[in-house]
Amino acid sequence: MTRDLPAGVERRRFDGRDRLATPGEPVYGEPQDEDGWRAWDAGRSKLGAMLELGMDLGLAGDESVLYLGAASGTTVSHVADFAGPTYAVEFAPRPTRDLLGVAASRPNLFPLLKDARAPETYAHVVESDLDCLVQDVATRGQATVALRNRRFLASDGRLIAAIKARSEDVLSDPADVFEGVLEELREGYELIETRRLDRFHDDHLAVVAEPRSADAR
Ligand SMILES: C[S@@+](CC[C@H](N)C(=O)[O-])C[C@H]1O[C@@H](n2cnc3c(N)ncnc32)[C@H](O)[C@@H]1O
Repeated sequence: MTRDLPAGVERRRFDGRDRLATPGEPVYGEPQDEDGWRAWDAGRSKLGAMLELGMDLGLAGDESVLYLGAASGTTVSHVADFAGPTYAVEFAPRPTRDLLGVAASRPNLFPLLKDARAPETYAHVVESDLDCLVQDVATRGQATVALRNRRFLASDGRLIAAIKARSEDVLSDPADVFEGVLEELREGYELIETRRLDRFHDDHLAVVAEPRSADAR
């Protein structure tokens, strides 16, 4: 059953404020409470912002996840705190080195130094029929990345993507950029919900979608 927050994500009090939190080792200087839960900073995490805005991401907890654009692990560490096997793809060596440290206390987190535009280079490592594809890659061609990685998703799996307008086109109106990205995404996905994340992240659009069946395309 899908709940408002996945199992393993709770609202807890830090310094007199209610904040999202997951149980795990701190990663980016966030506070941890005496029960071992650490605050999840929505200002530093698009997925955190989506949960903070009350979006229904279809996450119950314990999902298998492919996370694209892991950077040094700010968000994917929280994902690994509440999810099952979590494959984290990042193509920049420096943040991937930090990510290896983040994975040390998280046996379900598997960092991969790979290019998300070339899923065939990690298809032998990542399981198929995954529950969830989370994407936050700051690159041109974000819809293409989501379409290429659709192969890993179960037919009832979810795409949860944060689309950054400025990575596609720095000059155009973000609304026009998002329309173009959504049009391309519809080639392989049924859109469930979209929401601007500007309260936390300028010029970003959250997209929740499910794969379209082959005969519906
Ligand atoms: C906005 S940052 C991700 C932040 C991270 N998701 C978080 O919330 O902690 C975008 C990341 O995407 C990575 N990236 C961009 N293009 C990529 C590609 N083709 N394959 C893998 N990673 C990519 C960048 O190196 C960068 O670390």
